[in-house]
Amino acid sequence: MKTYPRTGDLQTIYLKDVITNPNIIVGDYTMYNDFRDDPTLFEQNNVLYHYPINDDKLIIGKFCSIACGTKFLFNSANHRMNSLSTYPFPLFFEEWGLDRQDVADSWDNKGDIIIGNDVWIGYEAVILTGVTIGDGAIVGTRAVVTKDVPPYTIVGGVPARPIKKRFSEETIEKLLELQWWDWPPEKLAENIDLIQKGCIEQMR
Ligand SMILES: CC(C)(COP(=O)(O)OP(=O)(O)OC[C@H]1O[C@@H](n2cnc3c(N)ncnc32)[C@H](O)[C@@H]1OP(=O)(O)O)[C@@H](O)C(=O)NCCC(=O)NCCS
Repeated sequence: MKTYPRTGDLQTIYLKDVITNPNIIVGDYTMYNDFRDDPTLFEQNNVLYHYPINDDKLIIGKFCSIACGTKFLFNSANHRMNSLSTYPFPLFFEEWGLDRQDVADSWDNKGDIIIGNDVWIGYEAVILTGVTIGDGAIVGTRAVVTKDVPPYTIVGGVPARPIKKRFSEETIEKLLELQWWDWPPEKLAENIDLIQKGCIEQMR
């Protein structure tokens, strides 16, 4: 995939093309827009506390729209809470004569972040580790997502709570069945007008 899909627009990228970390997997056509920083620095500026020692993963599907300033906060951000102190002693192993191998005992591990297909994440949203966001969901601007978001659900606020569903249950079921994001580009191109106009019955 190319990096800059829009001629003359250096703020909008196809994210997949700039990913170098094997623990970050991004689907085709998923785009990131950044009007403050260089969008190609996504791994550095937007995926935070994501240390190789944890082997935790950020998996993002196809056709997602990720707005400027979205942050994905990973496990190393979570100081251990079942310890009597949140101070990360294992991180300062040299100071305290601890085993370097146990450095990851500094934090709680809650798992990977998984984002489905056709997910729209609003400006400056924060997605916490261990969260799965379903296909077609929308995350409102400045939401802090602490729990899983079901498909085609709009969430907002701190902590993010469901605001509403995007469509009727019947339409959501059909969309999840269609999985148009996996269609070949030629077939998709033929159906864009129907997608844009909401004509799900005619899509094929
Ligand atoms: C979440 C969003 C998509 C909802 O849009 P909408 O369906 O038109 O929502 P409405 O304005 O009708 O609001 C519905 C309710 O959600 C609340 N709400 C809307 N956006 C919210 C947000 N970001 N956080 C918390 N609550 C929000 C409204 O206050 C309203 O609450 P009420 O029912 O108690 O009155 C939109 O508000 C939003 O945040 N868009 C993201 C824009 C953005 O960041 N774009 C970046 C460039 S791509």
